[in-house]
Amino acid sequence: MRKPLIVGNWKMNTTLADAIVLTTQIKNAAEDLEADIVLCPPFTWLVPLNDLLEHAPENLFLGAQNMWFAEKGPMTGEISPLMLKDLVEYVILGHSERRFHFGESNALINDKIHAALAHGIKPILCVSELKKMQDEKRGRGRPTEAVLRSDIFQQIKMGLKGVAEKDIAKITIAFEPVWAISTTPGTKGAASGVYAANVMSRLKSYIEEKYGVEQAADVTMLYGGSVDAGNVAEFLYQPEIDGVLVGGASLKASEFLKMCNIAGGPD
Ligand code: PGA
Repeated sequence: MRKPLIVGNWKMNTTLADAIVLTTQIKNAAEDLEADIVLCPPFTWLVPLNDLLEHAPENLFLGAQNMWFAEKGPMTGEISPLMLKDLVEYVILGHSERRFHFGESNALINDKIHAALAHGIKPILCVSELKKMQDEKRGRGRPTEAVLRSDIFQQIKMGLKGVAEKDIAKITIAFEPVWAISTTPGTKGAASGVYAANVMSRLKSYIEEKYGVEQAADVTMLYGGSVDAGNVAEFLYQPEIDGVLVGGASLKASEFLKMCNIAGGPD
């Protein structure tokens, strides 16, 4: 059975000192955990953290929070796959904050997915439920047909455009309802595990239709949005959910390790 995957997205938080302390604490605990752990710090900390993790347990990885698709050129402020490929195992692409604040389109995100694959970096493709659901009480219960026809399917369809069958297993899909992200104004917290699992099984069905059941089984599926140590079990308990993408709660080592322990600690 695949190990649960716990991804910490630090967003634009931490000083270098914070990053070193956080990473050291996680590194010291990782060996005993039956989970794969990915830390996604700001770009500026990737080099020192890569050094720090030189002899780290094999289940602890670094990821980037974003990436441009070209290898080099006149792209002020951007980071290329060539710059990242020796530092990270994963890259988060298409996070809802990139889509909203920076206007990233599905076509651009698709270019980035291809660039990551071409450079041996595993993409974590975020598909975000943009609009608050109308017939749902904040994600509790079964998702409506309207939800299942919504932009998340557009995002997965266009995000995976042109991705070859041989590459599909390298992709991780993160389902993140924007209304459940802890920093979204007015959020009332995470979706229910059942709601997330229902949407994610529909996303998986799309991948199965496109690539076949066997190939789709290798695609890792994450839920993200207000996950913490108190609710992580509710998500990991669902057979459709292989792991979680964690924002705010990944910034405290004790909380993050609690989650990793629940996900992959000894019985
Ligand atoms: P959150 O963020 O866990 O703070 O809700 C998740 C994300 O945006 O990736």
